[in-house]
Formats: sequence, C-alpha cells, structure tokens
Amino acid sequence: MATVRASTPSETLGPPAAERPIPLSVPELRGKEWAYLKECLDTGWISSVGPFVSRFERKFVDDYVGGAAYTVAVVNGTAGLHLALRAIFVEPDDEVIVPALTFIAPVNAVRYCGAHPVFIDADPQTWQIDVNQVERFLAKECEVRPDVEGPGAGVSTQTCWNKRTGRRVRAILPVHLLGLACDMERINALATAYHLKVIEDAAEAIGVRYHNRPAGTWGDIGVFSFNGNKTLTCGGGGMLVTRTPAWANRIRYLSTQARDDQREYVHREVGYNYRLTNLHAAIGLAQLEQLDTFLQRKRDIARRYREAFAGTPEITPMPQQDGAAYWLFTVLVSNRAQRDALLDGLAQEGIEARPLWQPIHMQPPYQGCQLAGSMTVATELYERAVSLPSSVGLTDQELERCVRAVRQIVATHHVLH
Ligand SMILES: Cc1ncc(COP(=O)(O)O)c(C=O)c1O
Repeated sequence: MATVRASTPSETLGPPAAERPIPLSVPELRGKEWAYLKECLDTGWISSVGPFVSRFERKFVDDYVGGAAYTVAVVNGTAGLHLALRAIFVEPDDEVIVPALTFIAPVNAVRYCGAHPVFIDADPQTWQIDVNQVERFLAKECEVRPDVEGPGAGVSTQTCWNKRTGRRVRAILPVHLLGLACDMERINALATAYHLKVIEDAAEAIGVRYHNRPAGTWGDIGVFSFNGNKTLTCGGGGMLVTRTPAWANRIRYLSTQARDDQREYVHREVGYNYRLTNLHAAIGLAQLEQLDTFLQRKRDIARRYREAFAGTPEITPMPQQDGAAYWLFTVLVSNRAQRDALLDGLAQEGIEARPLWQPIHMQPPYQGCQLAGSMTVATELYERAVSLPSSVGLTDQELERCVRAVRQIVATHHVLH
C-alpha cells in the first residue's frame, strides 16, 4: 500500500512518529490551494462573486455529476439543506421524513423552515434510513389527496397527507452516512408514488456511487458539504446539485437575498446570504483536482481496517457496498461499555476516535416528534459504533498503529469482562 503523506519539516521536528497524535479526519492540502488563494488575493476577488466560484461549480458538474446538471456553491452544507428545502416549498407545519441516525444538520434545516421531522429507524444491514419503515409509514399513516392553496401549491397536483397529524408530508430527506449510500431506487419509487420531493443529503458521500451513478444526483436536489473533516474541503462550504433548472434558479435566487431587481433592490420574499466566497471556492477547486487520489486512499484505508479486523469476533466493520467511498471507517463493538473502553483507550494512545451521533429523536429539541416505528437499530448503532482515523493523509505506519491499538484495547476489555 502506498504511503500518500510525505513528512514535512514541522513533522520531522515534532515527537517521533510512534507518539504523534493521530486525528480522526483532517484536510490534505497539497495541491494548488496556495496558488489559487494567492490568485484571489492578487486580483482582489475575495468575496462571494469571482472566477473560482464559477470554475468550482462547473468542474463539479464536469468531473463529478456529469450530464445536464446545475450546481450552486454555498457557504456550508447546512445552509445548502435549508435552501434545498425552501426551494421545494417546505413550509411551516409541513412534515419531512428523515433518518433518526444522522448528524443533526438535516433535521435542523427542516426546523429552520418551521416544518416537522418524522423519524425513521436505521436499516441493520446498511445502517442507512430503513426504507421498509418509510414504506410502512406511508402506507399506513398517509394518504394522497389533491393539493391546497398556498405557497407550495402547484409544486405537485397531488399531495401526501399524514392522517394522524393532518399535516402535509412534503419530502423525504435520505442521508448517505459515512460514505455509504441509501437505497435511492426504492426511495425514489416511494417518492413518486406518494408525490414527495427527495432532498438527498450527500454531505458525507462525495465519491459514492449507487448503481454506478453518483450519490447526490438521484433526488430532486442533492447537497454536499465541504466542511474541514470531509473528504474534499473548502474550510467551509457546500454544493447543491439538481437537474431541474427551475430548482437551480430558485436556489440561486434564495441564496442571494431573493433579489428580484438588481438595480432597485426589490425582494419578493425572504432570502439568505448563503453564497460561497471566491477564497473558499479556490480551495475547493484545488481539492477537486485531487479528488480521485483522495477517494483511492479512503478506499485503501477501509480495505486495510476491514482485513485487519477480519479475525476479531468482537469487532464488526461497517457494511461493505459497491461504489462506497468510506468517508469515516466505523466499527461496531459488543456493547456500550466496550465502546467507551475503546474510545478512552484510543484517546490515551493519542488516537482520535468518536462514537456515532446520538439519534436525533433523543435530543432535547426533537423529543416528542413523530416516530414512524421503533428506533432500536439507530439506538444500538449509536451505542456500539466507533469511527476510526480515516484522513486521506493517514500514513501506513499510523494506520497500523490504529489497528494494533484497537485490537489490543478490545482484547483487554474482553478479558476483563
Ligand atoms: C450528514 C451531514 N449533513 C449535513 C452536514 C452539514 O454540513 P456543514 O458542516 O457543511 O454545514 C454534515 C456535516 O458537517 C453531515 O455530516
């Protein structure tokens, strides 16, 4: 396996490799990031308009999405999700179907619109949103009737209504977790049958292919994040992707304060200042040029972890999927006590690891929201999962240090209990 990270002068002056802290997921900035940033500063294009923004948007289509798609670069993935939901007319008191097991951002975006999440459990095989539970919820709890008057009326001639709450179910928001993909074929089929829009959270899924088509291009709108811990980073940033020009125009409009008249500053509705700056886009473009290498290294790291834990019965590696990009390699251990022992033990070794997110229906702002069924899988995954160092720049030596530490801590904890 090739070592992709050469040592820098500051690294060689620091503690010996065997003692150096190993972070969970940090950026790899070894391409043209400096050169492009310098170009921004030299030319004075540093704000939310500039050539790097359009170059980044265009290259994302050419290299990543393919075909006739539209992209809009935004300040971060959370803002992108908010815009996507606003673009498809998610209104106060609407409902949006979301997974219980996810980073909280997509659910917060639903709340920003004044809408209500309906939580779905995780699938035990894929760890992604449980499509069987979505199907049961729609079949048992919902019905399709004509739309009513309102800002979103006309988006679709028929609308899905939750019979229990009397609210309109506007969309389903699948989240591709950890560099794996949700079952988009079934999700899209359900969305068509029940007249729902699909907003795909692909924040953790750059490079993931589902049935050989990129994650983030299956729904009405896909949203990516370029946060510092993601495979591709701008420092902070996001990208919306859609094949529908009307959605693209509306996203661009809402992201620039919904300005209807450029000269007179007339605004028909409330908009946002969510456009990406040229400085951030410059970093993003340089990162995009290296994406294939980044993804290759992520897959190599996943392969090595999987192979290393194959003979350890207490460790279950994350699911394997064709086309996965394994953003954060994650394992399950036997129970919560062992998870905590592993997190503590790794921290003592200077190795950064973390549990999965506490399911969102358990979090104070969302307690009491509607659950489509039991949330036992999401809860169990949360209690047993540990994400391991997966930076693109992780060296082979560091990877072996992580493998050894995990095996040793799990074996010790197993003997003690
Ligand atoms: C699944 C998911 N959705 C949304 C986001 C939000 O993206 P951002 O941090 O760019 O706002 C993140 C991560 O940051 C994420 O992991």
